[in-house]
Amino acid sequence: MRFSAVTIFTAVASLVATANAYWMGDIAHQGVAPFAGSGYRVFRNVKDYGAKGDGVTDDTAAINAAINDGNRCGKGCASSTTTPAVVYLPAGTYVISSSILPAYFTQIIGDANNPPTLKATAGFSGFGLIDGNPYYTSDLNWISTNVFYRQVRNLILDTTNIAPATAATGMHWPTSQATSLQNIVFNMPTSSDVVHVGLFIESGGSGGFLSDLTFIGGATGASMGNQQYTMRNLTFRNCKTAIIQLWDWGWTYMGLSITDCGVGIDISAGGSSDQKTGSLTLIDSTLTNVPVGVLTAWTPSASPATAGSVILENLSLNNVPVMVKGPSGTALAGSSGSTTINAWGEGHQYIPSGPQTFQGNIAGNSRPAALLSGNRYYTRSKPQYESLPASSFVSARSSGARGDGSTDDTAALQSAINAAASAGQVLYLDYGIYRVTSTITVPPGARIVGETYPVIMSSGGAFADMNSPRAVVRVGSSSGQAGYVELSDFVVGTQGAQAGATLIEWNLATTGGAPSGMWDVHTRVGGFRGSDLQVAQCLKQPGSSAVNGNCIGAYMLMHVTGAATGLYMENNWLWTADHDMEDQSNTQITIFSGRGLYIESTVGTFWLVGTAAEHNVLYQYQFSGTKNIFASQLQTETPYYQPSPLATTPFPVNSALNDPDFSASCAGVSGTCAMAWGLRIINSQNILAYGAGHYSFFNNYSTNCSTVKAGENCQARIISLEGSLSNVNIYNLNTIGSLSMINRDGRQLAYWQDNINVYPDTIALFLSG
Ligand SMILES: *[C@@H]1O[C@H](CO)[C@@H](O)[C@H](O)[C@H]1NC(C)=O
Ligand SMILES: *[C@@H]1O[C@H](CO)[C@@H](O)[C@H](O)[C@H]1NC(C)=O
Ligand SMILES: *[C@@H]1O[C@H](CO)[C@@H](O)[C@H](O)[C@H]1NC(C)=O
Ligand SMILES: *[C@@H]1O[C@H](CO)[C@@H](O)[C@H](O)[C@H]1NC(C)=O
Repeated sequence: MRFSAVTIFTAVASLVATANAYWMGDIAHQGVAPFAGSGYRVFRNVKDYGAKGDGVTDDTAAINAAINDGNRCGKGCASSTTTPAVVYLPAGTYVISSSILPAYFTQIIGDANNPPTLKATAGFSGFGLIDGNPYYTSDLNWISTNVFYRQVRNLILDTTNIAPATAATGMHWPTSQATSLQNIVFNMPTSSDVVHVGLFIESGGSGGFLSDLTFIGGATGASMGNQQYTMRNLTFRNCKTAIIQLWDWGWTYMGLSITDCGVGIDISAGGSSDQKTGSLTLIDSTLTNVPVGVLTAWTPSASPATAGSVILENLSLNNVPVMVKGPSGTALAGSSGSTTINAWGEGHQYIPSGPQTFQGNIAGNSRPAALLSGNRYYTRSKPQYESLPASSFVSARSSGARGDGSTDDTAALQSAINAAASAGQVLYLDYGIYRVTSTITVPPGARIVGETYPVIMSSGGAFADMNSPRAVVRVGSSSGQAGYVELSDFVVGTQGAQAGATLIEWNLATTGGAPSGMWDVHTRVGGFRGSDLQVAQCLKQPGSSAVNGNCIGAYMLMHVTGAATGLYMENNWLWTADHDMEDQSNTQITIFSGRGLYIESTVGTFWLVGTAAEHNVLYQYQFSGTKNIFASQLQTETPYYQPSPLATTPFPVNSALNDPDFSASCAGVSGTCAMAWGLRIINSQNILAYGAGHYSFFNNYSTNCSTVKAGENCQARIISLEGSLSNVNIYNLNTIGSLSMINRDGRQLAYWQDNINVYPDTIALFLSG
């Protein structure tokens, strides 16, 4: 057989094209936003709006046109879930002369196999190549704490055309829960006069999670402030300072790689008399050729008392002469050669009694082998299925599901999931609201990926009885069923009165290889169009202890059952809504959901990386009879309406689920006692939290109680540790509005006023003993 040169060339060219084609560009685009009006397009390829990506043409207007097509929620709009959009950028270099401005509920996604570049012109004007929350006036367009449901991934942001000494920002990203950045490179000049900043997050948001970013050059790789964050797998090279922490309550970095930077993390803002950084947790990271690893203003007498709390664990240093530098010099020496830091910290410790102020080496957690990969905690980024062709994806809509918010999609969705799983295909959940009237079962082998957070929404009588709760989405048909699944980018919600709905029930046992995963999968009860749990139905009634039965929206958000094991959770926000996202004043609503995340697996082995649970009646997180849990920035809020009514209403105690019994445990406790637990741990071992923020901001919808002046008396207690515990440790625990920070078998271990920080109260090191 003979090949002509042309044949070979054609064959090679088509091979390259096939290898490079990212399925997201090629699949059928059938997302339907039920409330956006006819003709509304969910998916937008910027090339269909005139972008060239040729490295020459100014594509700013075309990309922004792709974003704004349809009646999007932009300037002056408070928030909305009705107009989602995926803005897709094929490979190429897109020259831009001013900011790309993503509207609310926008995903900007580049070709994952060949990430496109946004290249700023020399005369670029704007605050960020991507400005995620513009200052149209002196205020941000969106209140940072209300910025949800948005992503940016697979991009290169390049400011190297802008003069190094001219201010430039790669990305401006004030943000909160259910958002993510993934796989973005920030390319900046490396000259000594450079003032560019890669990522800038300044204001009072409530994040959050992001991962897989690379910062090259610049004065600062990332300059950031936020209540709390988990950030993972960030690489910094040749930045003058890798990270400047503007302020925070709690922040966990894992898997940082900082090379050839002058300073690693600067937490000295405000100086010793007015420190702005509440706490910092840094683990499983490598620093190379960094003169100062962490720059702090902390001293034993600095102010506020617990600000600048630090925990370091498992760091590998190469030519880092000073690992921690304080106001009076070296606090923790590094080495001009290679060395490792097992564990070190400064702040207040309770081990388990306290407080004691400490600075120095600590023992570090004893890490269960089941949670590790090599010597680090196991982690895994959200799968983007780069290597799969479009033919590996099967569309839920093509399979007969409607996703229109009204059709009963139970049978069609179930059969689509089953068919995809048994054919080894990925189920693509095209955007839509899929109403289901009985349980959807996700079988072993399933891989499901949503198009910008479609909703699986329960509805009707099957989920209405709180005496007979039932799963909306059940992963594995019975507890301990063996298998493996991957779920990403969708929401499970409810419609109307669903007092018996358990939104996600995790039964699967994944053993012997990679754990199953759940990335950017969220629960949402109320506050969105279609939920029938909005201002019209569930407007807040401050002071009223009456319960509107139509506003009991869920029984439990997520239940990990007794024989389940091997689940990696990343960036999951288990939210019962406190306000209506469609309401342009963000009006508050009263929605009742009984429980947040309950893990009662006796087998254990779970990773909770960047998870949050908010506004559930009895507790946000409860772990009972379980083991081997890694948690990074657990974040919770107590319902804003409590204590009107108290947490004893409206769900009767279910002892089969180890529900807290407030009428018993509150006997003799002064203060407002029957309020939701932020975290409750019973008879468990190896529960290791690297950062936790448990907040109670309100009483009866007033924030007056959560101030230092008022005495942080929104509730009496917020964390309960009970029974037999071993190796249950919390690094950088932050609480707000609770008199007791930690209770052990009903006894207060730590009092808020002994641990005052920038706004929360903080314990750097808690060991249950
Ligand atoms: C870190 O991010 C890079 C870039 O996206 C990716 O290739 C790598 O797999 C990630 N590593 C981990 C441990 O997540
Ligand atoms: C983590 O600690 C182990 C020892 O437990 C060590 O072998 C490994 O190199 C450390 N990793 C880093 C990044 O320091
Ligand atoms: C709750 O707040 C409302 C409105 O501010 C007020 O009228 C009511 O008295 C308060 N109730 C309680 C129990 O504090
Ligand atoms: C909260 O405090 C302010 C200022 O002290 C006071 O005017 C207001 O009435 C208080 N609100 C409630 C609901 O107690």
